[in-house]
Amino acid sequence: MTVPVPKAELHLHIEGTLEPELALSLAERNGVALPYGSAAELRAAYAFEDLQSFLDLYYALTAVLRTGRDFADLAEAYLARAAAQGVRHAEVFFDPQAHLARGVALDTVLSGLGSALGAAPERHGVTTRLILCFLRDRPAEEALEVFEAARPWFGTLIHGVGLDSAEVGHPPAKFREVFDRARAAGLRRVAHAGEEGPPEYVREALDVLGAERIDHGIRSLEDPALVARLAAERVPLTVCPLSNVRLRCVPDLSAHPLPRMLDAGLLVTVNSDDPSYFGGYVEDNMDALRAALGLDDATVRLLAENSFRAAFLPADERDAHLRAVAGHRFG
Ligand code: ADE
Ligand code: ZN
Repeated sequence: MTVPVPKAELHLHIEGTLEPELALSLAERNGVALPYGSAAELRAAYAFEDLQSFLDLYYALTAVLRTGRDFADLAEAYLARAAAQGVRHAEVFFDPQAHLARGVALDTVLSGLGSALGAAPERHGVTTRLILCFLRDRPAEEALEVFEAARPWFGTLIHGVGLDSAEVGHPPAKFREVFDRARAAGLRRVAHAGEEGPPEYVREALDVLGAERIDHGIRSLEDPALVARLAAERVPLTVCPLSNVRLRCVPDLSAHPLPRMLDAGLLVTVNSDDPSYFGGYVEDNMDALRAALGLDDATVRLLAENSFRAAFLPADERDAHLRAVAGHRFG
């Protein structure tokens, strides 16, 4: 068996790691009725037309997550899979509003996630950061409320904020105030932009929200001036190839813009987004790119290096990871 290259995962929604088998067992444990009798039946529902059709199922299945133990089990299952795929550092998104709306308290979510993430360095050799995402199709006031409620965890468990959910029609500028508060609180800032939405949203995420990384950003290629800026400013783009195909942002993997993004000098990383729903974890994404695009070892090494360059890690830890990537032997 080949050893996967060490890498950081920077675009991963913990709710999107809920495998059908775990969803069914949590449903049983919590007495939640699901309209699917088996994992195969559930998997058959993973045929998406676009981002919204995916989000409908993604939010519906959060119904099985009720207790701190459920969130701990979810994160533990992800960390074990990620470690087996070479992940040494993971910056994990979570969607508190999806849980608060169902009456699950922030404390429940964070105590569960926190226990699994806290044990991860010892148990799996994986360090983590947690990034609180705001749902952009919900009101800005709600984002401010959840932000204030999460303050007790800032700097200890929560290290950044992000912006996700249905993109088109929900430009980043709506969330200026909460991102200003996040910056003042010393939190790192990322935002989904240019997944289904136009290049203008990528500009707004940078200029209005002060985003330090762009999640997806693939539609940036439609705007050469924006591409030149992203390259010059070394703005990391957390690209998710299998996600882009499954959500029909890209017709198939052989048409994926990743090679063009690299040719343009962009700081691209490869990530899994919602691996349970999109057919693979981060190394599976790399393997799929190798098969569809003939990605070679040197490019895979560059992508792994980029993942650590783009991570919110102290310089000494980043450099230690870069040395490990440099010393990796593909085979
Ligand atoms: N939430 C979970 N996955 C997402 C994605 N790919 N885009 C926007 N919001 C999401
Ligand atoms: Zn995402």
